[in-house]
Amino acid sequence: MEISFFHKNLLGIEGLRVEEIRTLLDATTAFKEISRREIKKVPTLRGKTVVNLFFEPSTRTRTSFELAAKRLSADTVNISASTSSVVKGETLVDTARNLQAMHPDLIILRHGAAGAPHFLSRHIDVPIVNAGDGAHEHPTQALLDLYTMEEHVGSVKGKTIGIVGDIKHSRVARSNVLALTKMGARVVVCGPPTLIPAGIEAMDVTVSYDFDEILPELDIVMMLRIQLERQERGLFPTLLEYSRLYGLNKNRVNRCKPNILIMHPGPINRGIELDPDVADGSRSVILDQVENGLALRMAILYLLCGGKHHDT
Ligand code: CP
Repeated sequence: MEISFFHKNLLGIEGLRVEEIRTLLDATTAFKEISRREIKKVPTLRGKTVVNLFFEPSTRTRTSFELAAKRLSADTVNISASTSSVVKGETLVDTARNLQAMHPDLIILRHGAAGAPHFLSRHIDVPIVNAGDGAHEHPTQALLDLYTMEEHVGSVKGKTIGIVGDIKHSRVARSNVLALTKMGARVVVCGPPTLIPAGIEAMDVTVSYDFDEILPELDIVMMLRIQLERQERGLFPTLLEYSRLYGLNKNRVNRCKPNILIMHPGPINRGIELDPDVADGSRSVILDQVENGLALRMAILYLLCGGKHHDT
């Protein structure tokens, strides 16, 4: 495997070159096989320590980073805001500096504030992986999504990919737009006007407010979760109305290309953005995304803890 990844941190898709994305995806293939073995452990990162520092809830990202570290034989520590000294008023920088004093090899940070990992990377020397920062970026999600797409359709170059729902509050949408446009895909973002950020066309995407109109042209559709925890009120009339206009149900799937790929980063609001029979149907690759997420995170830990790095 040719290594072309020379970053100290993984803060976003924004700073990655196409060949670096390719290195990460190639490494993911190498690591995917390990999780299918009976003994799912290799000694690659023995003696390394990985800290999962999560200030927001997570199932997929936190668990897959922890399992990824364990399968590479690294030691892991999980810290969530609610059980840390943050609840006593400690700042993010103080928390991180105290963790740094214990000499971990990598900190994986999820935080509700956009830019928190970038800020921290200027205050500590430990490499940082962004596991989601506010509505800004979720780079490992976009990389596992890209890997899953390529696994099913080959190159995404020239493919039309719809990202549907709450684009405005979605770090997943932002990182995916950055990754997919870098790789030559055509991206259509679709949702109610109140959930599409002004000026997003500058990211080289097409904007649509009409899901039914774009359905037949899509090769891949990524449904986003309605993020009730990040929204101001009144951005759409009711969840029922939202679901009627932008939910993916059987009728809509029947109007898509027969080999449409249906994706969702999770967690799903069943019956709102995705009907259960579509989420669990034959065109859904949602659980493939989760499996690939573990392998992708093994690749990231390997490249940041085990490989060489030159800059940030
Ligand atoms: N997709 C995703 O980030 O899921 P979690 O919030 O469960 O980590």
